[in-house]
Amino acid sequence: MSAPHLSEIQGRGVLIEMGTYLITGGCGFIGSHLSDALLARGDQVRVLDDLSMGKRENISDACELTVGDVADLETVQEVMKGVDGCFHLAAIASVQRSNEDWLGTHRINQTGSINVFDSARFCRDDGQPAAVVYASSAAIYGDNPNIPLNESARQGPLTAYGADKLGSELHARVAGQAHGVPTLGFRFFNIYGPRQNPDSPYSGVISIFADRIRDGKPIKIFGDGGHVRDFVYVSDVVRFLLAAMEAAKPEAAVWNVCRGEGTTIKDLALHLFAAAGKEVPIEHTPPRAGDILLSIGDASGVEAALNVRAEVSLKEGLKETMRFFNEA
Ligand SMILES: NC(=O)c1ccc[n+]([C@@H]2O[C@H](COP(=O)([O-])OP(=O)(O)OC[C@H]3O[C@@H](n4cnc5c(N)ncnc54)[C@H](O)[C@@H]3O)[C@@H](O)[C@H]2O)c1
Repeated sequence: MSAPHLSEIQGRGVLIEMGTYLITGGCGFIGSHLSDALLARGDQVRVLDDLSMGKRENISDACELTVGDVADLETVQEVMKGVDGCFHLAAIASVQRSNEDWLGTHRINQTGSINVFDSARFCRDDGQPAAVVYASSAAIYGDNPNIPLNESARQGPLTAYGADKLGSELHARVAGQAHGVPTLGFRFFNIYGPRQNPDSPYSGVISIFADRIRDGKPIKIFGDGGHVRDFVYVSDVVRFLLAAMEAAKPEAAVWNVCRGEGTTIKDLALHLFAAAGKEVPIEHTPPRAGDILLSIGDASGVEAALNVRAEVSLKEGLKETMRFFNEA
């Protein structure tokens, strides 16, 4: 194991050996929460982020930040030298950008994943491949109406973003079968919580609504607001990610990260009003082309495999999220 260091558990005088982990996209929403959890556990944390969406101030100074491009193989090889594992979260998480700049986003969302899997083969000091836990997406299911969607449901991405996530899952299998790299992928459903960037129109709907409710501005709902989503609070996602690093194997399992509960966008707005203690006008605009109507996952597979389940209720999570936006 590289750069072993010892950590004292809660002042009890018990010393344990902790690891060194790279988080690609670590200055972003999910990655920054993960970095806090790893540091709190006593691990050493490296972050690779080009700061295109993420913010330096999202992470502690205790993280070793490299500002660089995950699509550049040499950069990835360099930052992965000596790590015990990599959480690969860097991506252009925008369906709109993947439609406008097909090849450019492909380079980041799929070549970036291959760079990480490839570099994991030789990066550890003990010669063993390093484990990679990576973000896929519920977008790989496309508009499959057979909800709740379990992991063997028909795949059919409707966007370049979804196709690259599915491609990354296939390359994870290659990493395991051809090169012995242990991996585990997560098909995230709709993740929300503090630090989610509300600036892009394709960010998480909750951060956009929370930002506007705080400012007393109207919120916009596409169509009648009957679209259903499965929302997961970010602290639950971090627990899944930490468990996955221990469970990654060359068999390259991929699991949903969801609650298995659907909420319409219309109801979401009402829940947020309740969490904020105030209401703003709702404007209805024409439905967006290609918007998936129903997205609810089946969480039973991942719960059985990793013994982790999403625990934060939508009500609690929205309260925390609204508090963050009010204090920002
Ligand atoms: N948030 C969700 O609801 C959701 C749902 C499904 C999948 N995901 C996936 O989870 C991962 C994390 O998402 P997030 O919500 O934290 O998004 P985010 O945009 O907050 O984080 C992504 C980070 O990657 C960085 N990045 C982008 N291009 C890069 C590049 N070329 N090189 C290095 N860094 C780069 C960004 O600056 C950002 O900090 C992504 O892979 C995303 O596709 C998220």
